[in-house]
Amino acid sequence: MSRSLRRSLLGRNFLSLLDYSPEEFDYLMDLSIDYKKGRFSDKPLRGKTIALIFEKPSTRTRVSTSVAINELGGYPLELSTTALHISRGETLRDTTLVLSRYVHAIAARVKKHETLLELAKWADVPVVNMLSDKYHPLQALADAMTMKERFGDRKLRVVFVGDGGANTSHSLMLASALQGYHHVVACPSAYSPDPLILERAKEIASRTGGHIEVTEDPKEAVNGANVIYTDTWVSMGVPDAEKRMQVFPPYQVNEALISLAEEDVIVMHCQPWFLGQEITERVAYGPHSVAFEQAENRLHTAKAIFKAILVP
Ligand code: CP
Ligand code: NVA
Repeated sequence: MSRSLRRSLLGRNFLSLLDYSPEEFDYLMDLSIDYKKGRFSDKPLRGKTIALIFEKPSTRTRVSTSVAINELGGYPLELSTTALHISRGETLRDTTLVLSRYVHAIAARVKKHETLLELAKWADVPVVNMLSDKYHPLQALADAMTMKERFGDRKLRVVFVGDGGANTSHSLMLASALQGYHHVVACPSAYSPDPLILERAKEIASRTGGHIEVTEDPKEAVNGANVIYTDTWVSMGVPDAEKRMQVFPPYQVNEALISLAEEDVIVMHCQPWFLGQEITERVAYGPHSVAFEQAENRLHTAKAIFKAILVP
């Protein structure tokens, strides 16, 4: 089984979890857990260079990806878009065709998901999504790993509270669907998940025994929750920050809200967080928070992804 899964992952893009089956997702999580246990001492990426392109700021993704590639023996080549001729009009098509002649994979953090699709269209090497406006699949893999470490194979009630249309919300919803979890998005109606992504998540959940729902009521949503997840109300690049600051306050993750959940609820946040907005300081650094485990797991999951897609 795992040999055929290994073969199926080789050479693949990692643009969104929509492209991955529950078995492939589980395999990637198990490989990440093995990396965390320090199971491998080989350098499977020796001789391989991976281009890392950032159109937006990043701390965790930038560093975890670079360190992961380095620890696996590869070379992370960070390229700022201002240093590339893209900044003076060279097309993405030509840039990608050229990069494909030098590097073994391209990972990019982009403003628009369409940019990644265009990259993937022209690239002869695998393309990895390091965050777009629609998805953050590397984050969701680390998040699912963190839940599995804490709860094993239990079927969970996962509640995302906040901006339902955020990249992290979409990817977490797909991860929950792949895992067969009961996933609830509690958000203001104007900030609901993208209807097409919601539809796809429901389709996946119908096959895995999961369930996906959207509500405007955060208190009702967290009743019985094993996991409460939140993210910034103002993702990078959104145009309506002021309006968001007016509608989102009832969706703050604070001690009163988490007291309505299961006693052993974990609180998750991809970070960076804005304390006093989507999460209070007491919760962020409190006993339920696993945010720094999530951050650490970004390193192990990054290793799993690059190993899986690049090494036979
Ligand atoms: N969670 C995450 O992707 O963080 P960065 O923006 O710091 O990479
Ligand atoms: N939703 C956030 C995630 C940051 C890691 C953003 O896109 O800004």
